[in-house]
Amino acid sequence: MKVRLGILISGRGSNMEALIRACADPEFPAEVIAVISNKADAPGLEKAEKLGIKTLRVDQKNYTDRSGFEHAMSKALIHNQIELVCLAGFMKILSPEFANSWTDRIVNIHPSLLPEYPGLDTYARAIADNKTESGCTVHYVIPEMDAGSVILQRRVPILVGDTPETLADRILIEEHLAYPEAVKIVAEKLLNSGSIRR
Ligand code: GRF
Repeated sequence: MKVRLGILISGRGSNMEALIRACADPEFPAEVIAVISNKADAPGLEKAEKLGIKTLRVDQKNYTDRSGFEHAMSKALIHNQIELVCLAGFMKILSPEFANSWTDRIVNIHPSLLPEYPGLDTYARAIADNKTESGCTVHYVIPEMDAGSVILQRRVPILVGDTPETLADRILIEEHLAYPEAVKIVAEKLLNSGSIRR
């Protein structure tokens, strides 16, 4: 039995692609059921389609408020019997109600060593603070932004002369390893705890 994943994206979808590729392994404990974007033109959608994955567009432009948008998103997730939601470059802040309706079944990847540098511009902030190390964190999503418990982190050095772009590139390589590894841990936990019922 595999956990049914829904991946939420807003942009290029490189972490989404890493998850899709990991899930292609018959031994992996999860399968990607659908990729859902809040932007109709997210480049990741085409990538997913080329990899044979179902895509859905819940375009935020079509909703006047967040609750309408989230209602449509929940409907899409429930309709597809999604059991674990993976935010992968999903750039819309979700309401506490939405986060709470997916407790322990929604995860995110963030490009810093949380709890350091939640929010945006993580690379520039780490460089400006003369940090010697940064990395990425996969964590559970809770109502407070980038604050849920950590599932896994991978670290990279910050080198002399690094720019936000060079640091982002170095971290992204680790993200593509960290996200599948973390999803494996979460999926196995869900399966072993018996909390997935069909
Ligand atoms: C990644 O750096 C991720 O950590 C952050 O947004 C970026 C998304 O990149 N949340 P991609 O769309 O997965 O390529």
